[in-house]
Amino acid sequence: MTQLQDSMVKIESTGVTQNTKDMLQQLKTVTIIGSGTMGNGITHVFAQSGFNVHMMDINQAAMDRALVTIGKNMDRQVLKGTLTEEAKQAALARITTYTDMVEAVKNADIVVEAATENIDLKVKIFLELDKLCPAHTILATNTSSISITRIASHTKRPGKVIGMHFMNQVPVMKLIEIINGYATETEVTNTIFHLSQYLGKVPCIVNDYPGFISNRILMPLINEAILSLQEGVAGVTEIDTIMKLGMAHPMGPLQLADFIGLDTCYSIMNVLHMGFGATKYAPATLLANMVQAGFYGVKSGEGFYKYTPGSKDMVVSERFQNKSWKI
Ligand SMILES: NC(=O)c1ccc[n+]([C@@H]2O[C@H](COP(=O)([O-])OP(=O)(O)OC[C@H]3O[C@@H](n4cnc5c(N)ncnc54)[C@H](O)[C@@H]3O)[C@@H](O)[C@H]2O)c1
Repeated sequence: MTQLQDSMVKIESTGVTQNTKDMLQQLKTVTIIGSGTMGNGITHVFAQSGFNVHMMDINQAAMDRALVTIGKNMDRQVLKGTLTEEAKQAALARITTYTDMVEAVKNADIVVEAATENIDLKVKIFLELDKLCPAHTILATNTSSISITRIASHTKRPGKVIGMHFMNQVPVMKLIEIINGYATETEVTNTIFHLSQYLGKVPCIVNDYPGFISNRILMPLINEAILSLQEGVAGVTEIDTIMKLGMAHPMGPLQLADFIGLDTCYSIMNVLHMGFGATKYAPATLLANMVQAGFYGVKSGEGFYKYTPGSKDMVVSERFQNKSWKI
């Protein structure tokens, strides 16, 4: 038994069935689909925890950027003393990149899909994963809002499809929201629960409803902040400051939206809107306009704030600097 498998078995000292133990012991190679904001963080935590990680993206440049980000984030851990230089080098050596899905998944024991938040894309990816992965492979998705049951229904293994929702920034944030699809097998849920603990995270299991818990509550808050800006109730700085200082939020909702990605926020609001059929979930027109114009926040360089590489200053986008600004 490898050190990794041995540690896994120690985690589940109580109440774990033999099937779950068997599943946990099988987990050696993980494939991460997508190497963007989330994919690079998920790759980082799996590699640091001893897994062989296959990172796959259709965009080689995105993967090159992801490797640089992972290296920089690990350097920060080394400086803080939470990771040794030797462990960092070993973790980086466990990561292999692929642009070809066939090669990326052929030995995968578990896949975590973290590609762009789009239902048609996710269905296409899961159809391929189901065809290409070994029969035992667990297919997890990091989707923020799309129905796990719907994604699973396009595969021949709906019992092995599950939501494994990491939070941004993955190496820092403790939570993993685990989402059971309607057909997810209990052993698969248990395996992902213990795996999450092994990664040093705190798992919470929820059921499959639009937005699950995290985004059902967070996204309407962000959308309301954007509506307030759209209506001219207050400016960007005022909205974020009120929520930070008045509600003790670590980050204002507009800054958080930029950080998550406005395209992702927009997709999630559309899923909530369609899923619940209630107008209270309709995405703000300003959000739709910004996404259509390519203002995605941090990842595109501008959203509610303007981002300059290397600078940590919070500079409100010129578009929102005029206080009397309205849509
Ligand atoms: N951004 C967040 O804060 C956050 C938090 C939790 C969950 N999520 C979810 O994680 C997922 C990824 O979000 P993100 O913010 O990392 O997006 P992103 O836009 O930063 O990255 C998406 C990556 O997917 C790649 N991709 C697109 N099609 C692909 C394909 N067919 N095969 C392989 N790779 C492909 C893109 O090239 C890109 O690099 C989404 O489902 C999102 O809802 C995002």
